[in-house]
Amino acid sequence: MEYHNPVLLKETVDGLNIKEGGVYVDVTFGGGGHSREILKRLGDKGKLFAFDQDADALENTLEDDRFVLIHENFRFIKRFLRFYGVKKVDGILADFGVSSHQFDVAERGFSTRFEADLDMRMNQQNKLSAFHVVNEYTEEQIKDVLLQYGELRSAPAMASVIVASRVVEPIKTSEQLKGVLKKFLPPKHENKVLAQIYQAIRIEVNQEIEALKEFLLQTPDLLKKGGRLSVISYHSLEDRLVKRFIRNGMFEGEPEKDVFGNFEVPLKKVGGLIVPTKEEVKINNRSRSAKLRIAGKL
Ligand SMILES: C[S@@+](CC[C@H](N)C(=O)[O-])C[C@H]1O[C@@H](n2cnc3c(N)ncnc32)[C@H](O)[C@@H]1O
Repeated sequence: MEYHNPVLLKETVDGLNIKEGGVYVDVTFGGGGHSREILKRLGDKGKLFAFDQDADALENTLEDDRFVLIHENFRFIKRFLRFYGVKKVDGILADFGVSSHQFDVAERGFSTRFEADLDMRMNQQNKLSAFHVVNEYTEEQIKDVLLQYGELRSAPAMASVIVASRVVEPIKTSEQLKGVLKKFLPPKHENKVLAQIYQAIRIEVNQEIEALKEFLLQTPDLLKKGGRLSVISYHSLEDRLVKRFIRNGMFEGEPEKDVFGNFEVPLKKVGGLIVPTKEEVKINNRSRSAKLRIAGKL
């Protein structure tokens, strides 16, 4: 089975405005689709650094002298690039979320389609797993996760049912979790609600919002003047943060104004929001929620 079919491939790499001898970073290597396209457009003197925290992605590494794959979380992007002597780059690409491979391997626990142990860790070495969230978080914490990251109105009642059930027996598998939450899964919308529950737990397990914010905050400093940031997100929580960061250089509130009354921001958006065409969605259904935003360093 194919590891991952890259989404908005041309548009995202076009957004980087690749210079032949430039230095680029793909912070979500996965199956390497975007990385391969970047390498195609780079000359002999160009360089590409890629990150992925999933050990499975390392198997897709590319045999190319211009390429380095770093098995780390992109929230530490600056630190690891510095390790390779890189302080400034010409472009950074991020394609957030889960790869098809992670969804398709039942034991990883990401998919609502399979019976599996509660896991959902992108980095298999992390301690925090879906089991911990479901069985060890307080009722209040579970409610917050389901409410914030799943936007589930029944979050308080769901949290209460989970806590009452795990006292009797730990909730170890996806089937058990589904059973415990059965009354919240209307037959017509079972998959949709289940997907929201899974999304919420997955975001918490992988600390996705914290990682995304820490990553974005480092990008203005890393990019050379005129350098590009090309970011694909897959749900509104992520996209809202990306959009606000590009516009304001921060996630909440408004930035300072200069003497002319203009906002002092490090990035400027390039073009508008880009989403996949109907044709792309037909070929690759997983692209349907993708939103691409591009920014340039001022
Ligand atoms: C949607 S896939 C990327 C697919 C890739 N663009 C391709 O063309 O194959 C996202 C990848 O990013 C990785 N990832 C997600 N969050 C990460 C993080 N905080 N640090 C490092 N890698 C991360 C996941 O393990 C996954 O392999």
